[in-house]
Amino acid sequence: MTRRKPSRARLRPFRLDDAGDLCRIYPMFFVDNAVKYGSSRIVVAEADGHAVGFVMWGPALEPAWFDRGVERWAELDELHVHPNYQGRGIGTRLVRSAAREARAAGFAVMYLVAEASNAPARRVYEKNGFREHNRIVRYKLEL
Ligand SMILES: CC(C)(COP(=O)(O)OP(=O)(O)OC[C@H]1O[C@@H](n2cnc3c(N)ncnc32)[C@H](O)[C@@H]1OP(=O)(O)O)[C@@H](O)C(=O)NCCC(=O)NCCS
Repeated sequence: MTRRKPSRARLRPFRLDDAGDLCRIYPMFFVDNAVKYGSSRIVVAEADGHAVGFVMWGPALEPAWFDRGVERWAELDELHVHPNYQGRGIGTRLVRSAAREARAAGFAVMYLVAEASNAPARRVYEKNGFREHNRIVRYKLEL
């Protein structure tokens, strides 16, 4: 039986000097999240002197059009772990930390969107209590 390497990562709030590490993990992070960045919370997993993973969540900026009756909700916007550190439980700890923070901030529900084919991400979310709510269809038109 193979044993997992233990996660020696420490979770802590994002600091500005993590920006380089986050960009190495996800180069478009600050571009893609320019609008939500200011109102969101980021927790990083630090190991070997670097941020090796992070989660970003925040209050949604629009009504829950996909779930009538939900007025106030939190969104898990980003979850990334550097490939060298995957499979050690870091993603799981980050998701739990985001859910814990959102609950403490008074949110009763959190949503996220994942690609149907992203098996590792779906495993992490489902292991931590997320249940499929609805499906989004991507259409393509050949031009
Ligand atoms: C998703 C991601 C954050 C997970 O991080 P991680 O630190 O490896 O997560 P964990 O170690 O806590 O858990 C990974 C789980 O996925 C499982 N897994 C890995 N590859 C898998 C696969 N191909 N199919 C099914 N499950 C898989 C692991 O076995 C583990 O589950 P287990 O704990 O029951 O054994 C990481 O894969 C990642 O950064 N992916 C790229 C970015 C991304 O897709 N983010 C999510 C966007 S929605």
